[in-house]
Amino acid sequence: MSLPEPHGGKLISAYNPQFDAAAISKEIEIDAVALSDLELIGVGLFSPLEGFMGKADYDSVVEHMRLQDGTVWSIPIALPVTKEKALELSEGESVKLSHNGVVYGVLAISELFMPDLAKEARFVYRTEDLAHPGVARLFARGDVYVAGEITLTKKPGHGDAQEAWLEPRKTREVFREKGWNTVVGFQTRNPVHRAHEYIQKAALETVDGLFLNPLVGETKKDDIPADIRLRSYHALLENYYPKDRVQLGVYPAAMRYAGPREAVFHAIVRKNFGCSHFIVGRDHAGVGNYYGTYDAQHIFSQFSQEELGIQLLFFENSFYCHACEGMASEKTCPHGPEERVVLSGTKVREMLRNGEQPPSTFSRKEVIDVLIEGLKEHTHS
Ligand code: ADX
Repeated sequence: MSLPEPHGGKLISAYNPQFDAAAISKEIEIDAVALSDLELIGVGLFSPLEGFMGKADYDSVVEHMRLQDGTVWSIPIALPVTKEKALELSEGESVKLSHNGVVYGVLAISELFMPDLAKEARFVYRTEDLAHPGVARLFARGDVYVAGEITLTKKPGHGDAQEAWLEPRKTREVFREKGWNTVVGFQTRNPVHRAHEYIQKAALETVDGLFLNPLVGETKKDDIPADIRLRSYHALLENYYPKDRVQLGVYPAAMRYAGPREAVFHAIVRKNFGCSHFIVGRDHAGVGNYYGTYDAQHIFSQFSQEELGIQLLFFENSFYCHACEGMASEKTCPHGPEERVVLSGTKVREMLRNGEQPPSTFSRKEVIDVLIEGLKEHTHS
């Protein structure tokens, strides 16, 4: 086996720091989500996308989870603006894309169109409920989509996560240098707890390397901040993982909380990083009770292995079981709930914020210490 080709066949490169945008007068101020999309298109992580989607691709992605040419793609990557802003813009012209007044890119406008946001919500998020963080964001961002190819002219900084931001060209090189022929990617927006560690290591038993790839872009405000999580990943890797089998690298994308649809998107992105395998456990990228526990696994049956180009590894709900005296899952443990250590994310965050230690059967002590300390600093700063 060898590492996969990028999705669509080639890694897009739309980064050009020499690009002279001086003659372009119009500008769109973009939000943090669009800035991250711009960067990730520019460095090829969203290959084969070369820009923000036009209506034909958008409609096809919303309805069929495919770009117009048939390539699997499950989440619209669109640039929303307000109706007022759209009136200033015309097809065929170029605009600068800025965030907090700093220009990061240029967009050659091919199209302006009005999306049906309610339909996008129903198809992509499976709900129009504004209590869903992805849906709330979708409706808040703007009513007109601006499409076209982009040039990334300046890479945004990533603060504490910068050092662990390896672009897909780099990860592919790193995996090759390590001599890994098979690499399993792991997405997370959380600290790595024992259940995560268990499924990662179960996967690692059958492949050459693990790419621990936490998402560090926009998340909902009660998720644990990325800078604290990063420290916790280092603490865990330092103590419990073999150095020559694990590579840490961040994924500076916004979380969509789109459950099944996002699982497909996450898999494609990891393929672009060069992963041959990708882990999908229980309620991947889910939030609240919007998705069934294993919906994010079932969705993959709609695609052939060939068109996905990355091997999925599915895991059942995992936990520590006192009777088994070890980590187990619903697939391997015969005991009842009274033997199992199961804590909700909300409960754990509440414990950590109160300085309470969840049991070491739930999370490694080194991880807990870092999280409690980090959250304390955040509350005081
Ligand atoms: S996610 O939003 O990034 O998917 P999280 O960080 O909780 O959330 O999950 C990371 C990965 O681990 C996902 O593939 C998820 O399905 C899986 N996962 C999380 N907790 C468990 C668990 N207890 N058992 C099995 N899989 C899990």
